[in-house]
Amino acid sequence: MERLILSIETSCDDTSVAVVSDGGTIRANVVSSQIEEHAPYLGVVPEIASRAHLTNIPQVFQAAMTRAGIGLNDLSAVAVTQGPGLIGSLLVGLNFAKGLALGTGLPLIGVNHIRAHARAAFLAFGEIPLPALVLIVSGGHSHLFLRQDDDALTLLVKTRDDSAGEAFDKLAKMLDLGFPGGPVVDRLAAAGDPRAYRFSQPKISDGSLDFSFSGMKTAALRHLESHPTDFRDPEGQPVRDLCASFQTAVVQHLMHRVNLARERYQPRSLVLGGGVACNSGLREAFRLLGKKHDLATFLTPPALCTDNAAMVAAEAWQRARRGEHDGLDLAPDIKFPAYDAYAPLHSGG
Ligand code: KG4
Ligand code: ZN
Repeated sequence: MERLILSIETSCDDTSVAVVSDGGTIRANVVSSQIEEHAPYLGVVPEIASRAHLTNIPQVFQAAMTRAGIGLNDLSAVAVTQGPGLIGSLLVGLNFAKGLALGTGLPLIGVNHIRAHARAAFLAFGEIPLPALVLIVSGGHSHLFLRQDDDALTLLVKTRDDSAGEAFDKLAKMLDLGFPGGPVVDRLAAAGDPRAYRFSQPKISDGSLDFSFSGMKTAALRHLESHPTDFRDPEGQPVRDLCASFQTAVVQHLMHRVNLARERYQPRSLVLGGGVACNSGLREAFRLLGKKHDLATFLTPPALCTDNAAMVAAEAWQRARRGEHDGLDLAPDIKFPAYDAYAPLHSGG
């Protein structure tokens, strides 16, 4: 008999409820975006996010149940994002999930949001040859993992300052391009010259290969300050060129680490996920690296890259298979680490 997991995602600014069958078949994946509410502030306002989740979640839940064509009796577990994320946002999802679990007697399964992003590719592609190098780049996090088996993730690279998504969002803010910045920078970059502006790659003196995006942000600000009038027209060529040059620098920075990790760990496949994985330049670079080294390459489809509850159900399925579940005292964990082991990639070997 198929097992249906109802899953809830409210870690940041998307309210999402999904129904997934046997960890792999999406029956419904409803996402309600709050972009319009946060756009005037050019970033996510936590207080607004939690209030909006509270208002939206009953309708999103109903829509997911209707789309899946099921009733509560058909479910076998309730899964929810436990963290990392915004505390008020996480609490709304967690409490809704607990209410459902209590009312139905179903097991409750807490899920790590970043592990869920790393699982999203399995929803789209099924089996992925392991070991796999998994790059998860989002608005909150930038992580390169090695997945050796179905359950274990080893963290190889993390960011020491901004995430890749924040870097895109901050560039867009400087250029007055609106929020979120990633999609608009991506669009403008397509018609820009990536060699027009110089962005040197960060040099970290201790040999660490952590990601670092703050230097690129400062370089962008310098370019802007040195010719302020050039950048007034948001559709003008200088803006397109700056977006293209910046995007290329971010992609090169990420891919440099991915390639070193590939040399060191000889994976069988490459996986790309998280909101920034929608970026066309990054997708192309990933695809080319896979092709060059004859590696199976799995680019998570854009709808499963940005925050969604289906990926939460897919990760919960792994926990359910191991017989794991949580009690009604499940608490949000805003810093919930996503990895089982940490083996930092280092330039020395
Ligand atoms: O994974 P996600 O939906 O939320 C978090 O968990 O953070 O990622 C959102 C991030 C935002 O920073 C957004 O600007 C970025 O993903 N993003 C992109 C693109 N589409 C979304 N960044 C670059 N290029 C894109 N096409
Ligand atoms: Zn996310």
